[in-house]
Amino acid sequence: MLSQQTMNIIKSTAPVLEVHGVTITKTFYKNLFEAHPELLNIFNHTNQSKGRQQTALANTVYAAAVNIENLEAILPVVHQIGQKHRSLGILPEHYPIVGQFLLAAIKEVLGDAATDEILGAWGEAYGVIADAFIQTEEVLYQEAEQKDGGYRGFKPFKVTKKVVENELITSFYLVPADGAALPEYLPGQYISVQVNIPGHPYTHNRQYSLSQAYNGQEYRISVKAEKQATPAGVVSNYLHANLNVGDELMVSVPAGDFVYNTAKGTPVTFLAAGVGATPLVAMYQAAVKENDAKVKFIHSASHIPLHPFERELLGIAFPSKNATYVPVTTAASGHIDQDFLAAQVDLTGEVYLCGPVGFMEAMIQHLTALGMSKENIHFEFFGPAMAL
Ligand SMILES: Cc1cc2nc3c(=O)[nH]c(=O)nc-3n(C[C@H](O)[C@H](O)[C@H](O)COP(=O)(O)OP(=O)(O)OC[C@H]3O[C@@H](n4cnc5c(N)ncnc54)[C@H](O)[C@@H]3O)c2cc1C
Ligand code: HEM
Repeated sequence: MLSQQTMNIIKSTAPVLEVHGVTITKTFYKNLFEAHPELLNIFNHTNQSKGRQQTALANTVYAAAVNIENLEAILPVVHQIGQKHRSLGILPEHYPIVGQFLLAAIKEVLGDAATDEILGAWGEAYGVIADAFIQTEEVLYQEAEQKDGGYRGFKPFKVTKKVVENELITSFYLVPADGAALPEYLPGQYISVQVNIPGHPYTHNRQYSLSQAYNGQEYRISVKAEKQATPAGVVSNYLHANLNVGDELMVSVPAGDFVYNTAKGTPVTFLAAGVGATPLVAMYQAAVKENDAKVKFIHSASHIPLHPFERELLGIAFPSKNATYVPVTTAASGHIDQDFLAAQVDLTGEVYLCGPVGFMEAMIQHLTALGMSKENIHFEFFGPAMAL
């Protein structure tokens, strides 16, 4: 436990951390990777260059600091981050390294204002926060290992099928290369994949949602080739061009807290934009099977040929009396607005959202303006979690 004096120092200096948080974490990562380049095998280099990972880390350390007397308040966040850490193979021995460089960065940015007393208090607080992560992650490692076919870390999966869904999205079907059982997952969860690209000095890790409900046979991921912006996406384009039937891909046991968890009898709407449909397709399959209330899948895409999974979603809806699939083509009808949502969404139920950050922001704004409680709106980021 932290002493009252330490807690007082943390609470009184937390606002300074909020102001300088991103500068501190940027300094931290720069120095960390200079001293430990091997960690570049774990971190997503794009999230670093866009500053998203720095912001996510700064926000969490700040949230932990202001809740230092009541860390239970942030345990759901620790659990969600712990899922990502577990899927990437973050280990207890990594924490002291991060702690050392985080404190050094606080010193570097704040200069003389960071007295020994302040640094000592933050060092102690970091230890408490790190312990919460390490304990949560050990439980998650054990859960992953104890599943039928479960394991720690990454292992090779073989590609059994490669299916072009549309001009940008291709699905890969994966089975364990060692023939072991396929670890079970909940609809909405993702896997981390580890890719070594010839000529690249470090391994690339990325997450991909499982785009079908568990079937005991194979995982399916559906990857959008990020080629519309410059520079082109490294891993997605590499997988499209180079990962073929018979090839192997390193995969960790499915992870994630964004899962379908709606009580039977509660109406549910899935709201997807573009490739954000992937976790929602798996959830939709589960919902249509389990839920006897209305289940609706609304999928927004810019053009008609870009609606992936259309036939599959229609097929899931077809035999069911309570399921509806609603494609929205923004080039023709514009973006989904509040009136559309008022007409289409059962606001007494729950909504699961996935798509670009701007899309999710707009949907949450409209739905809450229509009277939906935030507790009934669930969402997933295809990148480091940010506050909306
Ligand atoms: C939980 C989760 C689930 C996901 N599920 C899916 C899924 O089902 N399907 C899917 O396709 N993706 C999914 N993603 C996203 C996926 O993990 C990758 O982020 C995505 O494939 C892009 O990776 P990449 O290596 O191709 O692109 P990157 O090389 O990481 O680049 C991504 C984008 O950033 C831009 N960029 C690169 N460098 C810079 C820079 N220096 N400054 C500014 N912009 C830059 C690029 O132009 C590109 O548009 C998911 C992510 C998460 C976290
Ligand atoms: C108490 C200390 C830590 C905090 C508060 C923290 C916080 C975070 C947060 C907020 C995210 C984003 C989660 C998301 O994507 O939703 C994240 C991701 C990540 N963390 Fe940590 N983390 C800590 C320790 C560590 C350590 C010790 C390592 C390993 C060296 C590590 C490696 C990573 C990696 C690789 C990611 C994925 C980000 C990416 O895409 O590159 N973290 N962490």
